[in-house]
Amino acid sequence: MKPLYIIAPLLLAGFFSIAQNKSGIVGPGKQVDPYHYQSVKSVTFSKACVASAHPLASQVGVAVMRRGGNAFDAMIATQLTLAVVHPAAGNLGGGGFLTARKSDGKLITIDYREMASAKATRDMYLDKNGNPQMALSQDGHLSSGVPGTVGGVFATHKFAKLPFAELIQPAIDLAEKGYVISARQAKEFNELKGEFLKFNTRPTAFVKNTPWKEGDTLYQPELAATLTRIRDNGAKGFYEGETAKLIVEEMQRGNGILSYDDLKNYVAKARTPITFKYRGYDVVSFPPPSSGGILIAQMLKMVEKYPMNQYGFESVRSTQLMIEAERRAYADRAEHMGDPDFWKVPQKTLMSDAYLATRMKDYDSAHASKSADIKAGTAHESEETTHISIIDGDGNMAAVTTTLNNSYGSKTVVGGAGFLLNDEMDDFSVKPGVPNMYGALGGDANAIAPGKRMLSSMVPTLVLKNNKPFMVVGTPGGTTIPTSVYQSIVDVVDFGMSAQDAVNKPKFHHQWLPDEVMIEKGFSPEVKAALEAMGYKTRNRGGIGRTELIKILPNGQREAAADIRGDDSLAGY
Ligand code: GLY
Repeated sequence: MKPLYIIAPLLLAGFFSIAQNKSGIVGPGKQVDPYHYQSVKSVTFSKACVASAHPLASQVGVAVMRRGGNAFDAMIATQLTLAVVHPAAGNLGGGGFLTARKSDGKLITIDYREMASAKATRDMYLDKNGNPQMALSQDGHLSSGVPGTVGGVFATHKFAKLPFAELIQPAIDLAEKGYVISARQAKEFNELKGEFLKFNTRPTAFVKNTPWKEGDTLYQPELAATLTRIRDNGAKGFYEGETAKLIVEEMQRGNGILSYDDLKNYVAKARTPITFKYRGYDVVSFPPPSSGGILIAQMLKMVEKYPMNQYGFESVRSTQLMIEAERRAYADRAEHMGDPDFWKVPQKTLMSDAYLATRMKDYDSAHASKSADIKAGTAHESEETTHISIIDGDGNMAAVTTTLNNSYGSKTVVGGAGFLLNDEMDDFSVKPGVPNMYGALGGDANAIAPGKRMLSSMVPTLVLKNNKPFMVVGTPGGTTIPTSVYQSIVDVVDFGMSAQDAVNKPKFHHQWLPDEVMIEKGFSPEVKAALEAMGYKTRNRGGIGRTELIKILPNGQREAAADIRGDDSLAGY
């Protein structure tokens, strides 16, 4: 049977309400029907909603809220479901960040970023002549950091209401009973067949003899068994026992270095959120080891003193100003940002008004700056990831971005355990001056060290207005993540856009080096030509990010948008 896709703005609150079903959530005719589902892109709900990369994952999140769960229950259930139905980025073998605000105002940031193995070394991806071997950091067994996602969901469970077993069961059922795949997934599995064969030592669920097509059912019994061990044994069901054994054996078969001790020693960490004001709104975002929170603070504060609303959306003036802010912030990323447990990130200085004023001193509204002239400031102190935005009926807000790094991570599935491992080691700076897969540069701040977390761009973000929920936002997209979140906030706050427009209107991206502006398809050709006349080098590219945004309207309604660039979908009531 084929999934039914509907891409249409639906404005009826509660249109997608699903009756409570006590006998389980997943199955034909139940709240989540893996054989018939649809992608819903834009709805205003009255109480609670989930925006995620897959319709089934959003539906599972909403189903657990209907059973009495809160936004944290929904976040756990949605993430675990994405590990089954969105194998490109949903994961057990990767990591992520949670930014949340409880309805009582308490802010929560949980870091479950992957970590380098205790056996990792600074030069592990250099050959004997010092030449980088990027193939090793980007695919296969050696590219993986110690996975953090399972640690993260258990750290999140402290704030949830329902038993963990109830939250993981839908994912187990979907892995066991199967679900029908979309045209996009079928295409990806077919395109990656060669790589799956190359980087795996055992057969995987993603490879079959005949080509995949839309509507085929994907069964993942080994993944179901791993999820069942986690249900029955908690985090130890992943970091110890049978699953740990399967991971270490996989490493041994493929010359990887993750060990029993690496897995046993993994901890998710509570961090202190980044908070700052933008035009009277309070922004809450993720600190290092993400670069994202600092970057969006820098970029928003650099444009704040300009009348952006007068310049207008996609005008030459606003676009050029935003690009120059992006260029300057990303120069700082390369120099100053890394795992704060290993590197003193000058966070306060980088976000201070005085510092940012000096960064914009040479800004010229008529000409492109040159990245060669813009060094980092002196501060003393396939692209595939996935994002979930949730708000519940009580006003608990939760934003999670998780990643395997590029699409399908290392392409290595743990034999017998059924989940893909990340290739997050490439997010370290393999060698100063050598760009990673996103073209990002780095140095000592983000050099490899045992037990260190690689610098990320993921930036799950909340915005408050008068100390009340206003926006939940985030996106995948590697280094384009902070620019997409920054542009989404400007689109809503300065240009007064709806959630749907802020998500779907074309984006642009400058990351200091390479010195070029990436322009998403659909962007105004006139503005592009005007930028080129000012000295900007531009490069056309396909979709930037897959943003999931919930905006809370003055009457409390939740205006939600799931990105049209993917299979992303909303559910709620
Ligand atoms: N792997 C993408 C990121 O963490 O930024």
